Amino acid sequence: MNPIKINAIKLQGEIDALALITEATPPVVTRVLFSESDLRGRAFVNNLCREAALVLREDSVGNIFARLAGTDKNLPAVATGSHIDAIPNAGKYDGVVGVLGAIEAIRALQAAGFQPKRSLELIIFTAEEPTRFGIGCLGSRLLGGVLSLERAAALRDRDGKDLEYWRKQGGCTGSLESVKLPKDCYAAFVEMHIEQGPVLEAENLDIGVVEKIAAPSTLRLHLTGVGGHAGATLMPDRRDALLAGAEIALAVEKAATTSGSPDTVGTTGIFRIEPGAVNSVPCRAWLEVDLRDTLVKTRDAALHQIEAAVEEICTRRKIEFTMERLNLDPLAICDVKLVETAVGAARKLNFSVKKMISRAYHDSLFMAQVCPTTMIFIPCLKGYSHRPDEFSSPQQIEKGVRVLAEVLAELAR
Ligand code: GLV
Ligand code: MN
Ligand code: MN
Repeated sequence: MNPIKINAIKLQGEIDALALITEATPPVVTRVLFSESDLRGRAFVNNLCREAALVLREDSVGNIFARLAGTDKNLPAVATGSHIDAIPNAGKYDGVVGVLGAIEAIRALQAAGFQPKRSLELIIFTAEEPTRFGIGCLGSRLLGGVLSLERAAALRDRDGKDLEYWRKQGGCTGSLESVKLPKDCYAAFVEMHIEQGPVLEAENLDIGVVEKIAAPSTLRLHLTGVGGHAGATLMPDRRDALLAGAEIALAVEKAATTSGSPDTVGTTGIFRIEPGAVNSVPCRAWLEVDLRDTLVKTRDAALHQIEAAVEEICTRRKIEFTMERLNLDPLAICDVKLVETAVGAARKLNFSVKKMISRAYHDSLFMAQVCPTTMIFIPCLKGYSHRPDEFSSPQQIEKGVRVLAEVLAELAR
């Protein structure tokens, strides 16, 4: 095999081009599951895969698989990949680096004359972001068999549209039952991603290798109070849904900051009210709460504390409520051997590297239930992510892609 050379300029051009496919005004990136921009983004990526002579397949929830056949087709493949959907007001690197970077890694291996024994498979996961249905990692949950078909059928977006509706919009056919991956279909899964935190940059490191992914959970709340005229409804008579929601958001902060674990984080990221008129008492509120930790025990204790606070606040304020746990996931422990393989690859290339925790969740959280899994992190500016000024330099990305190519080659050899 010839030396592996990464074309960082071409890759950056592709990252920039994909960022222009957005529901928002560039440089803001928004690509919500099966929106027009998500479909155009998928077509863009599929095209790059075809140009690289990868064989494409799509499952019935829209997960895309692009395969470079190995010489021994009976062996389980080595998989890599990430997502291209983007939350509202996002940047251009989250997920994208792990998809377009993986295509570049595969192209670089092809150009070096590498003949994999195991097939290499790129997976572009459906809806890693929770924007449409409130739960993240929709595609990888179904691949891992972690989301029951009943729960999947019950998913609704804020307009009441279900997964069946959106699957049709996305051109998906076939039954959801067929999505679950058989055991032993992959020898390994390695996802490259920007760190989305400040550690690598602060410590001036090239590469992080993930040993553990924090455990996420989400609560969805619907509060119903009583609306009325802002001038004529006296304060003792109010049943204001926003004020109950505001107290709940503060209870989330308190539960996270007093859990006893420095790693508990709680966020009320969605808070919508109706009717939304300055001279009208808010009669309804929708909240979604994201709660995570690297320890399930303290995460769950904080969750119970929040749920108890919701009961108390709504009873005291005479607010009717529904509360649903959208997801309550375990953490993922990465495969020790695979972690060492990735660390070894970085060292071989003379890149500085450390093993670390992923505080963000990723499709790897669920791929870890399917096969040995780890992640390759690259530094990003000040740890910024889920915001338009998210940034990793072409040089930082190139190093990540170089390590990914090395790891894929070693695993597929
Ligand atoms: C992924 O986008 C996350 O919220 O961790
Ligand atoms: Mn994200
Ligand atoms: Mn991501």
